[in-house]
Amino acid sequence: MKILVTGGAGYIGSSLVPMLLENKYKVRVLDCLLYGGATLLPHFRNPDFDFVRGDIRSLETVRKALEGCDAVIHLAAIVGFPACRKNPDLAQTVNFDGTKVIADAVGRGRHVLFGSTGSNYGALEQDVCTEETPLNPLSLYGKTKTAAEEYLMGNCDATAFRFATAFGVSPRIRLDLLINEFVYTALKMRYLVVYESHFMRTFIHVQDMCRAFLFALQNDSKMRGQVYNVGAETMNFSKAQVCEMIRKKVDYYLHYAEVGEDADKRNYVVSYKKLDGLGYRTTVTVEEGIEELVRALQVVDVSNPYTNT
Ligand SMILES: NC(=O)c1ccc[n+]([C@@H]2O[C@H](COP(=O)([O-])OP(=O)(O)OC[C@H]3O[C@@H](n4cnc5c(N)ncnc54)[C@H](O)[C@@H]3O)[C@@H](O)[C@H]2O)c1
Repeated sequence: MKILVTGGAGYIGSSLVPMLLENKYKVRVLDCLLYGGATLLPHFRNPDFDFVRGDIRSLETVRKALEGCDAVIHLAAIVGFPACRKNPDLAQTVNFDGTKVIADAVGRGRHVLFGSTGSNYGALEQDVCTEETPLNPLSLYGKTKTAAEEYLMGNCDATAFRFATAFGVSPRIRLDLLINEFVYTALKMRYLVVYESHFMRTFIHVQDMCRAFLFALQNDSKMRGQVYNVGAETMNFSKAQVCEMIRKKVDYYLHYAEVGEDADKRNYVVSYKKLDGLGYRTTVTVEEGIEELVRALQVVDVSNPYTNT
């Protein structure tokens, strides 16, 4: 099977592409390389890999990239509320219009796997979100991702994954993700100022996100047409709990601040029963991810251009 991965040079894509290749899929990446393409260099010798540099907003580019592909994993986006706030027009045209181009070009028949997000839930009336919980995104990021998910689910044979917040090391590292940012700041600044410290968040290691896509390719008929929360019920933690876990590995000063707020008001515990029921399990704990980040970020310089903000 040949898989088109949009945004394959990014944080998730650069971990996903080698996993797909190891599992004997052929892979074509379509990416405009906002953050460079060095993450994909190891694959150019592999005949099962090919790369198209282009923009998902161009129908002609997408149509060409789709030629010979049996399924699509759609990751290309302007990711996270700070990056979307900085470039609102770009966020709207890439996240929604670009997804619409993909959906219209793929149509029905081929499986489209979509990297959606828990930011879609936004401000909640209830404590535990399931896939049935009404979506109420507040940030431009959440709003564009929600509209994109709805369009794909309505117009393609798609599976949408509402991922927990990612953490961990990948060929392209992101430092705007809560755990990654906290570990980086604690290591480099030796202090951390945290707002809404009691807010509950939910986490998933980047490798486990990639494993979810693989799982969906292998369970295509059961999963098409469905939306899944992807994460683990054992990985719902408050920000304060994350800070304490980091403290076990890094010596730093921690201050809980009264000011500052999350643009999507994410304070939720998420249920993962639906995907658990199909047999998918995460494998990397938050503690293991923190250990990995501490070991990597102590030695590798990950300052700009590797950040989304
Ligand atoms: N990392 C997370 O915590 C998380 C959580 C939930 C959902 N997601 C979703 O997963 C997907 C991938 O996230 P990521 O963390 O890898 O982000 P990323 O910013 O690291 O990667 C995005 C990639 O998309 C590419 N891209 C952007 N605009 C494009 C365009 N117009 N045409 C072609 N390529 C374009 C970029 O060059 C980049 O390589 C996104 O759709 C995101 O919303 C991520």
